Amino acid sequence: MTEILALANYDVFVGNCTESLSGFLSNYSHRKVVVLTDEHTHTFCLDRIRPLLPADILEISIPAGEVHKDLNTCQFIWGKLLEFGVNRNDLMINLGGGVVGDMGGFCASTYKRGIDFIQIPTTLLSMVDASIGGKLGIDFNGVKNSIGVFKDPKAVFVDPFFLDTLPKRELRSGFAEIIKHALISDEILWRQISSINIHTEKNWTPIIIDSLKVKQKIVVEDPYEKGLRKALNFGHTIGHGIEGVMLHKENSLLHGEAIAIGMAIESWLSFHKGFLSEEEFISILIFLKRTFNLQPIREELIDDFILLMKNDKKNESDEIHFAVIGPIGKVHVDFVRDVPFVKKALEIFNHNLLQ
Ligand code: GLY
Repeated sequence: MTEILALANYDVFVGNCTESLSGFLSNYSHRKVVVLTDEHTHTFCLDRIRPLLPADILEISIPAGEVHKDLNTCQFIWGKLLEFGVNRNDLMINLGGGVVGDMGGFCASTYKRGIDFIQIPTTLLSMVDASIGGKLGIDFNGVKNSIGVFKDPKAVFVDPFFLDTLPKRELRSGFAEIIKHALISDEILWRQISSINIHTEKNWTPIIIDSLKVKQKIVVEDPYEKGLRKALNFGHTIGHGIEGVMLHKENSLLHGEAIAIGMAIESWLSFHKGFLSEEEFISILIFLKRTFNLQPIREELIDDFILLMKNDKKNESDEIHFAVIGPIGKVHVDFVRDVPFVKKALEIFNHNLLQ
């Protein structure tokens, strides 16, 4: 059974994609179809959709991982599109996680001023977050998603089948965005989510649908992040900074692992301001610690990390903008703290909250 969620200009199909995709692709007969994969999705995911595709699909495969979400890889993709003679009427299918979806969508939107593309997310993270909402882009000069566009796909096909191809660590990374959606929108959803054990959970479909509905409501109301959509940045102001400084280090963090640290610290900011009660804050912290095995932020990286946060597109001068929460289910955007206070919050995280 496929569930269809409508966004302003496109639908998100949740369920077995082999049912919904073939009908959609019939609109593109006699056109070129390009499939972008990374080395993992080429091996583990492409076979699921291959029988639905024309025999003469054009394949582009890129190396996996956030470090490749850059201009060099874009040049490679644009070069292949030109080499294959892809034109404005043709279709690009982005089959992969957030990197493939964000970068593939960006390349499709800019190639020859834009060709149609669809997203087939294969990770939990991209199923509940990255593949919907039209944000596309790449990292540049160490700043995450600093080059990009807003452009909607023609459709998104969320098929939980692909989760079986994922390592547990990747699954857990995506779970961070599910936690975020619950914390910013719905106390009852939070209670359901906080009873999930990702190691034993088998039925992800209803969890994905509930989480997608949170994002759907927000991006339909505020597609260009003028106000409400900033709520989705909860955990991300600090999380992006941590992810950015760790990106080229050994033991780099997955997006959701960095966001989990960000949510812990930004929940403390929410508690300190009096938005979250102590009881709520402790319940969030305990759950994040148990699920993500949170580690301290290395002291020697803190200055780089502050610099990255100041460079983040949301922040001006010495003021850092946050989305904070409290009570659970309610979010406050454009909450501002200065750099010394943010440093203090990091110290409290390292020395008090992790005990
Ligand atoms: N991932 C945050 C957003 O889509 O706005």
